[in-house]
Amino acid sequence: MRMMNGVGFIGVGNMASAIAKAVRASKPEQALYLYNRTPERIYELSQALNAFQVERERLDVDLLARCEYIFVGVKPYGMKSLFEEELAPYLSEDEPKVWISMAVGYPLKDLKTLTPASHRWIRIMPNTPVEFGEGYVSYCYDPAIEASKVGYVEALLQEAGRLQYYDESQFDAAGAVAGSGPAFIYQVIEALSDAAVSHGIPRQEALEMAAQTVVGAGQMVLASGENPGALKDRVTSPGGTTIAGVKALEANGLRHAMISAVDATYQRSVDLSDQA
Ligand SMILES: NC(=O)c1ccc[n+]([C@@H]2O[C@H](COP(=O)([O-])OP(=O)(O)OC[C@H]3O[C@@H](n4cnc5c(N)ncnc54)[C@H](OP(=O)(O)O)[C@@H]3O)[C@@H](O)[C@H]2O)c1
Repeated sequence: MRMMNGVGFIGVGNMASAIAKAVRASKPEQALYLYNRTPERIYELSQALNAFQVERERLDVDLLARCEYIFVGVKPYGMKSLFEEELAPYLSEDEPKVWISMAVGYPLKDLKTLTPASHRWIRIMPNTPVEFGEGYVSYCYDPAIEASKVGYVEALLQEAGRLQYYDESQFDAAGAVAGSGPAFIYQVIEALSDAAVSHGIPRQEALEMAAQTVVGAGQMVLASGENPGALKDRVTSPGGTTIAGVKALEANGLRHAMISAVDATYQRSVDLSDQA
């Protein structure tokens, strides 16, 4: 077998770019190979990460022949055509790879049909804050994979943030909270900063105030290990200002809105799994 010391990325959009940054932070010396359908989109990233940018015509020799571990960052609907139409001629039983898929709603049983039987699959469900080491990455894997290979991928992602193994049956739920959660929280931050602006605080300061408040509250939950309900009780004095705001949130259904958002995301992920 050829020496395959590189780590590859195929389909380097929003999510895979963030993962590539995390992998670079975890492994400063690791050779990274990036391939994206539209090459111009990853010129700057390749330079910033000191990664090799691979051309379409040289995908086999410059990426597939050099990498045993390959992250796949195309959209779920692009997975089948990528493997069946573009990669299949270069994949063989006797050069097995470890593929790491971030595709929402694409289960291991379907991922395994995309490659020869000796190849192995890991599913990750990351979120974009992995770029700053503040992400949450759920993962699960094909039970046939060697523990050392899972360990290698864990090491690649050690600077991404929190890594947590989940049984695949819980993957859609984990993805609905952590994968899509940043989008929900951006809306919370936007709403909080709109409120601040409406009370005369300049936009930029309002955004920083709102974002830092969310970061601080999250850190408080993690660092204290306390239930958020108890933390809320500590900052709501009887007849005070904060409890008036809490009451308004309850009246406007904040909890129901958040739970519904996760339910809708979860259902969409289940529907996509059925179509994969
Ligand atoms: N965004 C998130 O927060 C998030 C969270 C969890 C999981 N995910 C998963 O991450 C994956 C990517 O999502 P995304 O939001 O990063 O989408 P995206 O920004 O559209 O990235 C997809 C990338 O794949 C490239 N691509 C498509 N077909 C290709 C092919 N045949 N060969 C090479 N490159 C190809 C696209 O290239 P072009 O530049 O030509 O379009 C694009 O750069 C999805 O499977 C999604 O389910 C995303």
